[in-house]
Amino acid sequence: MMEDWYFEFIKFVKNLYKKDSVALHEPLFIGNEKKYVLDCIDSTFVSSVGQYVNLIEKKLSEYTNSEYCIMTVNGTSALHVALSLAGVMPDTEVITQPLTFVATCNAISYCGAKPVFVDVDEDTLGMSPKSLKKFLKENCKIYDKKVVNKITGKEISAIVPMHTFGHTCRIDEIVQIAMEFNIPVVEDAAEAMGSFYKNKHAGIFGLMGVLSFNGNKIITSGGGGAIITDNQELAQKAKHISTTAKLPHKWEYYHDEIGYNYRMPNINAALLLGQLENLEKFVKIKRELAKTYKNFFDAIGINFITEPINAKSNYWLNAIMLDSRKERDEFLEFTNSNGVNTRPVWVLMNKLPMYKGCYTFESKTAEYLEDRVVNIPSGVML
Ligand SMILES: Cc1ncc(COP(=O)(O)O)c(C=O)c1O
Repeated sequence: MMEDWYFEFIKFVKNLYKKDSVALHEPLFIGNEKKYVLDCIDSTFVSSVGQYVNLIEKKLSEYTNSEYCIMTVNGTSALHVALSLAGVMPDTEVITQPLTFVATCNAISYCGAKPVFVDVDEDTLGMSPKSLKKFLKENCKIYDKKVVNKITGKEISAIVPMHTFGHTCRIDEIVQIAMEFNIPVVEDAAEAMGSFYKNKHAGIFGLMGVLSFNGNKIITSGGGGAIITDNQELAQKAKHISTTAKLPHKWEYYHDEIGYNYRMPNINAALLLGQLENLEKFVKIKRELAKTYKNFFDAIGINFITEPINAKSNYWLNAIMLDSRKERDEFLEFTNSNGVNTRPVWVLMNKLPMYKGCYTFESKTAEYLEDRVVNIPSGVML
């Protein structure tokens, strides 16, 4: 049944963005982006060496309050490197959440490991510490100082919680549990640039955190990612293996291990620097937009998802929670046929062909959310 408020919503969004066709998210270049990119071209240092890459690493370390930052070509490669350095070996398992973007699980697979799934919390949309603890206590045993999944017989080599849509999960509790079991945490903070939990930036709670600067993120370098960490040794290794593991030398090409060509090009860093200068402004506008949406949805009795307790969210993607999958699908059909781009939350990872054979401990809340959560236009508007 077509609800009256669908029409109201379409009118509201088009009026908000002053457009007849509204995308889910679009990048905005209103600062020094062109200046820096042109400067980068003039310098000829457009590739993997250059001052903009070093500068953006320094600026991101400062902003996130992490000791080190290593830029990569995208968030997925950053996750890959971070997981390998955290010690994720082939034939092990990595605990993550079923409600995430596929890159989280793909990066686990690149290490030869398999994801195992614990549930998410309804209020944070991120990994549930309760489900994590229950899994580790009930389904795992300590064997030869290793935590082993009793069902599969595989070692648990890492935990990857994700900060969904920029809302932070209960990361301090997750890290605490992980420490009890001596398992490293790699935070997938790809969506959480500019988000804070208990006044600390997302991504700096675990051993390493990963950011993404894909074109759909709050700030973009076209494609790009970063690893943030306080661990000097890991930071040095991350830079080393993401730059083909080449030993520094004026002319000699000597590589001391299998590395990756994952270093962010200088030209992308130049673009990102221009974007980073406006991050605070973008977060402010997005938080205002979320307030406007909240008022609109409160008035019609629809559940608009707000930042969880203790979080200061970047509101990267705004989301609402509908009553059922049926209503969700009707709403998606109506809005997308009427010039307003909306989309459902991801199909759960444990339903995708390549991950459905992986062990799922709990996924009830994730399934509930999968049926109901819809993202609505969230681009920064002036
Ligand atoms: C949760 C999550 N993890 C990882 C990634 C991967 O980032 P990228 O697209 O930069 O590879 C993204 C975004 O694209 C994401 O949303």
